[in-house]
Amino acid sequence: MQQRLIIIGAGGFGREVHDWASDAIAAGAEWTVAGFLDDNPHALDGFDLPVGIIGHASTHQPNDDEVFVCAIGEPQIKLQIARSLRDRGATFTNVIHPTARIGQRNRLGVGLVLCPYSVITTNVTVGDFVSLNLHGTIGHDATVGDGCTLNNHTDITGWVQMGEGVFMGSHASVLPYARVGDYARIGAGSTVLRSAKPHTTIVGVPGKRLPSFDTPTKRAA
Ligand SMILES: CC(C)(COP(=O)(O)OP(=O)(O)OC[C@H]1O[C@@H](n2cnc3c(N)ncnc32)[C@H](O)[C@@H]1OP(=O)(O)O)[C@@H](O)C(=O)NCCC(=O)NCCS
Repeated sequence: MQQRLIIIGAGGFGREVHDWASDAIAAGAEWTVAGFLDDNPHALDGFDLPVGIIGHASTHQPNDDEVFVCAIGEPQIKLQIARSLRDRGATFTNVIHPTARIGQRNRLGVGLVLCPYSVITTNVTVGDFVSLNLHGTIGHDATVGDGCTLNNHTDITGWVQMGEGVFMGSHASVLPYARVGDYARIGAGSTVLRSAKPHTTIVGVPGKRLPSFDTPTKRAA
């Protein structure tokens, strides 16, 4: 049975994932791209794609021939939608661009997007629904929790421990052995030296916490 890949989220990243999936198919991946799930039926208006929006993530009932990948940047929303679909029986797959490099002895989850020229080195653990964007790297012995969004050129170095739902902006770095708590946000170009607490926003080099910008979950707690 030929599997049909459904991309959740038809925004800019969704269109990129469509293209990376097409490259993966050209390199031998065994699905076809069936279309997108998005609550906005007009999300692809004006874009020339061979497939369109086929439903809503909140109501879609997965079929046996469908596999899914999540192309949503905001980690909390991504995890909520992906877990809800999985609870309804959805099977998630990994979209791995042919230029991505993966070393040995890694433990990788499902629902991953590994974009062009991303690298996972060795003895790395990656949870489910993680995206590693263009040129992003995860170094030896690092752990990355479910739902992290790791944007272009992010650098997760050796032995880093990262919780779930972390957002790293473009060119952000985490230095060796540092710990990053659940749902922390690391600003573009910023560097975590030793630690980032859960639900905080860290910016600058070295990274400092922006107390007034803690994520809503923390403020509500
Ligand atoms: C860190 C980030 C999430 C904060 O966003 P925000 O909550 O909307 O915060 P604001 O833009 O209002 O900025 C708040 C303060 O932090 C500073 N700041 C924001 N991002 C910063 C960064 N990356 N480095 C240094 N300072 C930063 C702002 O200058 C501002 O300082 P001020 O209060 O002294 O004026 C965001 O700026 C960021 O870096 N996002 C990454 C975007 C990205 O790389 N996306 C890739 C996918 S397209």
